[in-house]
Amino acid sequence: MARPKVFVIFYSTYGHIHTVSKSIKEGLEKAGNVDIEVYQFPETLSEDILGKMHAPPKPDVPVITVDKLTEADGFLFGFPTRFGSAPAQVKSFFDATGGLWAKGALYGKPAGIFFSTGSQHGGQETTAFSFLPNLAHHGMIYVPTGFRNPNLFDNSEVVGGSPWGTGTVAGGDGSRQPNEKELSVAVTQGEEFANVVAKLAA
Ligand SMILES: Cc1cc2nc3c(=O)[nH]c(=O)nc-3n(C[C@H](O)[C@H](O)[C@H](O)COP(=O)(O)O)c2cc1C
Repeated sequence: MARPKVFVIFYSTYGHIHTVSKSIKEGLEKAGNVDIEVYQFPETLSEDILGKMHAPPKPDVPVITVDKLTEADGFLFGFPTRFGSAPAQVKSFFDATGGLWAKGALYGKPAGIFFSTGSQHGGQETTAFSFLPNLAHHGMIYVPTGFRNPNLFDNSEVVGGSPWGTGTVAGGDGSRQPNEKELSVAVTQGEEFANVVAKLAA
C-alpha cells in the first residue's frame, strides 16, 4: 500500500519559516511512515515591493497550486504573522480553494500549523488560532502540537512556539534566527504529525 503523503506548504518573506520548514520535514522523515513534498505559497507582492521590503530571493522550492492540494493526505502550513494573523499570500491562496470546498475535496484531511513573529508577543498564538476557520470550513482536522516537546516549558530564554504549533521569533529587524530549541519543537511536530496522518490513513 502506498504511504500517505504529507505536503509542507510555507510562505516566508525573510527565510525564518523556510528554515523551520526544514526541521518540520526532518521530523516527518524521522517518523518514517509518510511521503513528503515541500511547497511554498504563491507570492502576491511585486518584485518592486519585495525589493523595498529588503526581501531576499525566494528559495528553490516549487510553488503550490490549488488543484495539487487534493494529492495530499495531510498538510503542515507555515507562515509568518501579519498583524497577528496569516499573511495575505496565504489567505488569498485559501480564497481560491472554493472549488475544492464545494466538492469537499479536503474534508477529513489533517492539518497542522507553524509560524513566526517579529516579537515574542506579536502573535505566537493568535496567528495559528485565527487560521482555524480555514480548516474548519474545509472540514480539515486540526492537529495541534500540545506540549509534547519540553522546550515549550522553557522560560530561561526566548523560545517561540506554543501548543498550537512550532513558532520562532525573528526579532524586529529579522536578525534573530530559529534556535535549537525551536527547531527541536519543529522536529517533534513533524514526527507526531506523521504518526497522526499514518493512523488516520490506516
Ligand atoms: C506587514 C507586516 C506585519 C507584521 N506584523 C507583525 C505582527 O503583528 N507581530 C509580529 O510579531 N511581527 C509582525 N511582523 C514581522 C513578521 O512576522 C516577521 O518578519 C516574520 O515573522 C519573519 O518570518 P519570515 O522570515 O519567514 O518572513 C510583520 C511584518 C510585516 C511585513
